[in-house]
Amino acid sequence: MVLTEHSWLMWQILLALPLLVGFILLSNQLLCPSPSKKTNSTIPAVGVSPGPLGSWTAGIRFVKHSASIIQYGYEKYAPDQKAFKISTLPRWVVVATHDAAIKQLQDSDEQFLSMQEAANERNSISYVLGKYIHENPYHMSIVQRRLTPRLSQILPEVIEDLDLIFGDFQTTATEWAALDHHKIAERCISAITNRALLGPTLAGDLEFLDSVLELSNVISRAGLVIDLTPRSLKSLMARFLVHRHAAFKIYLSKVIPLFKDRRRAYRENGDQVERPNDAIQWFLEAAPATQSEYDLALYILYIQFSAIHTSSASLVNVLHDLAASPGFQNPIKDEVNAVLQKDGNWTKQSLAKMGKLDSSVRESQRLHPVTTATMMRKVLQPYTLVDGTHLSPGQWVVAPAWAINRSLQKYDHPTEFNAFSPGRFFAMMELKLVTAYIVQKFEFRLGTESEGVRPQNGFFCFSCVPDSESRLLFKMR
Ligand code: HEM
Repeated sequence: MVLTEHSWLMWQILLALPLLVGFILLSNQLLCPSPSKKTNSTIPAVGVSPGPLGSWTAGIRFVKHSASIIQYGYEKYAPDQKAFKISTLPRWVVVATHDAAIKQLQDSDEQFLSMQEAANERNSISYVLGKYIHENPYHMSIVQRRLTPRLSQILPEVIEDLDLIFGDFQTTATEWAALDHHKIAERCISAITNRALLGPTLAGDLEFLDSVLELSNVISRAGLVIDLTPRSLKSLMARFLVHRHAAFKIYLSKVIPLFKDRRRAYRENGDQVERPNDAIQWFLEAAPATQSEYDLALYILYIQFSAIHTSSASLVNVLHDLAASPGFQNPIKDEVNAVLQKDGNWTKQSLAKMGKLDSSVRESQRLHPVTTATMMRKVLQPYTLVDGTHLSPGQWVVAPAWAINRSLQKYDHPTEFNAFSPGRFFAMMELKLVTAYIVQKFEFRLGTESEGVRPQNGFFCFSCVPDSESRLLFKMR
């Protein structure tokens, strides 16, 4: 076989990867063992063989098998409402099963059990996007108070964006035809998120939209690698994996000028200038005047990163579920048409009247959440859960979302992601809108290669990932 330059490079990467992982693990162990890799011996471990390498081999197994490992522990310890612990590559993680302990995580005080410390460390945000986001989380209230209400105001523009994305396919798919629903889902979610954040500016700029999508992938991969890297090398790794990436440079070249122009306009014209209802304005109002345009642009990138992956994976899951049970599509389509006929237009209120649509999206999220564990918290001060588990600073604790959602005992009140993400209302609205749009215009079904079986999700550490090879067929109604 003749190796092309590209495949030669792939081989080099494949050969170098185990060495890199080995180096990272060894140097982590020798140079700066993570405090959370020290275990609390009174909490029972699940999936870990005895011996000095037991927790590391369990951590490697966890990468692909997080759901089954947590499910096993949940079935073993949930009947007695006891916590257990699992080994992931970067750290031990305590899994709470007691209802009231999970409520403690949900209502936790950031000073004791911190969501933001956990999110920051797990995604290496301080290294990838800078320390300001972590130190001054303005984005949290901006997502809840500004971005989410904004989406309800721009639904007609969003529908125009969806029309453009589905483009010619809307008129040509008179017979069953394959459509890359993974790409379409990413495009729809990215268009909606960017339209709500930045308005019409950059809405048609494909180079910008592609850079945002690419960066969401780059940042999530880099976050995992940097989380495993010794502290002294983290900044270097972030520079190498993210800051030198072409998509990062394109992104900044488009967003920094928006902040600069707005600031210049205010300096020159003061109160006379119009104040658009967009993220440039929201962050300029929330941040001190000294905050650099570079940092402000990265806050917006952080919201895009948090919003796009999660929501497009959820949308793909909804499409897989409805394609595998096509009998639900017509009732949803009839409901959407009936509400729109009565209300005349897409509004937040009209979406709220679509009960079948709502329960289909929720049921899909119950069965196929995008993460096996939610409510990740890093312990900052000694804390005792109601089940008697003592947690010490540096430890991590989570709720086993995937296992609970599938547990028959908990069927009536599934612990959906929805209750715990600041983007929950935004996500629900956009998921319902795109699902309603697709169901109204198309019928869709599983590709022949799936032989009638819903494409199975895979697992990567805590993430549940839809099968990227799956294909669906679509036909215009
Ligand atoms: C189906 C879609 C989504 C899922 C499954 C999801 C899930 C999550 C989860 C599990 C967390 C961690 C919260 C915790 O541990 O208590 C989180 C945090 C967050 N999410 Fe979402 N999310 C989704 C959509 C969105 C959207 C659309 C946005 C923004 C518009 C968003 C913005 C955020 C932000 C800003 C954080 C906090 C990160 C921090 O600590 O700084 N999410 N999300």
